[in-house]
Amino acid sequence: MGLTRVPGLLYGGDYNPEQWPEEVWAEDVRLMAEAGVNVATVAVFSWSRLEPAPGVYEFGWLDRVLDLLHEHGIAADLATATATPPPWLVRLHPEVLPQDAAGTRLEFGSRQGYCPSSPVFRAATVRLARALAERYRDHPALVMWHVGNEYADHTTECFCPESARDFRRWLGERYATLDGLNAAWGTSCWGQHYTDWSQLEPPRRAPGPVNPAQLLDWRRFSSDALLACFEAERAVLKEVTPEVPVTTNFMSVLRDLDYWKWAAAEDLVTDDAYPDPADPEAHVKVALSYDLMRSLKRQPWLLLESAPSAVSWREVNVPKAPGVMRLHSLQALAHGSDGVMFFQWRQAKYGPEKFHSAMLPHGGTDTRQWRETVALGADVRRLAGVAGTETRAEVALVLDWESWWGLEAPESMPSNRLKLHRLLLSWYAPLHARGIAVDLVPHGRDLSGYRLVIAPNLYLCTAEQAADLASYQGQLVVGPFSGVVDAADQVHDGGAPGPLRELLGLRVEEFWPLPDGETRAVETADGAVLTARTWTEWVETEGAEVLARYRGGPLDGRPAVTRHGTATYLSCLPEDPAPLLDAVLAAAGVAGTALPEGVELCRRDGHLFLLNHGAGPATVTLPTDGTDLLTGRRLTGTVVIPAHDAVVLEHS
Ligand code: GLA
Ligand code: GLA
Repeated sequence: MGLTRVPGLLYGGDYNPEQWPEEVWAEDVRLMAEAGVNVATVAVFSWSRLEPAPGVYEFGWLDRVLDLLHEHGIAADLATATATPPPWLVRLHPEVLPQDAAGTRLEFGSRQGYCPSSPVFRAATVRLARALAERYRDHPALVMWHVGNEYADHTTECFCPESARDFRRWLGERYATLDGLNAAWGTSCWGQHYTDWSQLEPPRRAPGPVNPAQLLDWRRFSSDALLACFEAERAVLKEVTPEVPVTTNFMSVLRDLDYWKWAAAEDLVTDDAYPDPADPEAHVKVALSYDLMRSLKRQPWLLLESAPSAVSWREVNVPKAPGVMRLHSLQALAHGSDGVMFFQWRQAKYGPEKFHSAMLPHGGTDTRQWRETVALGADVRRLAGVAGTETRAEVALVLDWESWWGLEAPESMPSNRLKLHRLLLSWYAPLHARGIAVDLVPHGRDLSGYRLVIAPNLYLCTAEQAADLASYQGQLVVGPFSGVVDAADQVHDGGAPGPLRELLGLRVEEFWPLPDGETRAVETADGAVLTARTWTEWVETEGAEVLARYRGGPLDGRPAVTRHGTATYLSCLPEDPAPLLDAVLAAAGVAGTALPEGVELCRRDGHLFLLNHGAGPATVTLPTDGTDLLTGRRLTGTVVIPAHDAVVLEHS
């Protein structure tokens, strides 16, 4: 079963016909058919064209677009068009525009200019979503609803009076009483005791560091406020078109939104991924985000946007070399996407994205880009059988957004150098290099199917979450600065690792961050020496065995890495955790694959993907025989994969 009723894999991209005269549309659909496009995302930024005045709808042009697409066998991922409120709405109701932390109102003239808590904005989006759903409920092109667009791309939070009211309401629900809030926020510190709800405000710009508990609640609230916008639209779409899947496009590993919560509100997960061709680590970073997407609902997802070549929003926008668009697209499929889609179909003539690459470039069809677009469409068709297949992982990485928000408080931490995305990557990269499939997991998920669970950091960890980890039977690795605070960002009694103390068999007496550039040697029991950067801790064991000790510096001879039963604890950040990882993989009975550098191995049921991200050819011993779906060749033994090329083996 695919994600939508379109058979096989989806292939297409954002289509903005309103930016072109209608004569061009006929050429668009003809070329889409030539490239094998079977889906187009339409109307993402069309609110001002669909509703040019309050309650006045102009659907004629969209009728013609959808009819034309359908006549050419192209399905529509139809947007609710609410990603940018139209000028008339913000002039009639200026309070719809968002305010920044300094209280400055952000003007109209870009996109996503709305206050997520504005009742006027939300009501207007719901009216438009309903009008679209009622008009197109029976349109044969409609296969998916695309709500808003990239929530939190430009507007992650709003500090206006309406948001303040909504924040107070949210706090009222969370704490019920002011006493409860004062206790949770620790307002006895720095004289912040509140005596009336009206005194509460968002964490606007203040003279000094803002109360971190207030900030943590603000981050929870801001994610929820945007989610409420999505849910309000979803509710009317489900009422009018209950059968049509509803999604909104995520932004890979994004700190601002708790995607576990968001994904639960969606029918399918879709993602926008823009690996930087100039970044040699890009294919590893994007693999992590794809695995997150697959893990969010534990089912195939959809790459809804990616760049055919260069983007237009970095300082320097490097194009993708020949073959790289295909390689990156195959990589998304390898990690569970049931399609390959781009921003955008036809390269823009004007506006901020006129230099962003597209499937059909300014130069037209006699171009390298177009030839690669057509060739990729053919490859995607060859891989139709991949649609719907699942990936099984034996290793999981714990990712918790609340802990992430707490860890990355902008001020008042022992070190501002601990960044969760980096910490996740430090474990993910060596697993990826060994061809080991990885799931991401939230707290509370059943871990019994995994042999190894790694929590790179759990700064915020409640007693309940710790109990869940303690009941897990497999190998567990916990990274430094974990079990430090509770859900209100208050330090656990006795200090770290708080509720993880018994499980890990130790306590952390002092945090010992390292100055930038300084390193510390960490020697394992069998004499291997690792190099730690950024962070170390003064650890006192309480039953844990010491696997490695600090050498030199004020912690000389003290425990650096410990083990208690099946739980391994790292009080430091080794530059390369490979030796430790190999030991826990062996203990867990998880086998990796020896792969040449730059070669990625992924599995989906019945399929093996080998992708060569390196600059030269790679020789790979196939772990299984099978037929390469890209070439139709039967492969066995050893294969040579040219640079930027791939093999997709179908096997029994
Ligand atoms: C100053 C302030 C104190 C405290 C310390 C922390 O001395 O007066 O309130 O913040 O800094 O170093
Ligand atoms: C995101 C947005 C698109 C477009 C692209 C450009 O994916 O959703 O509208 O701006 O970025 O890379």
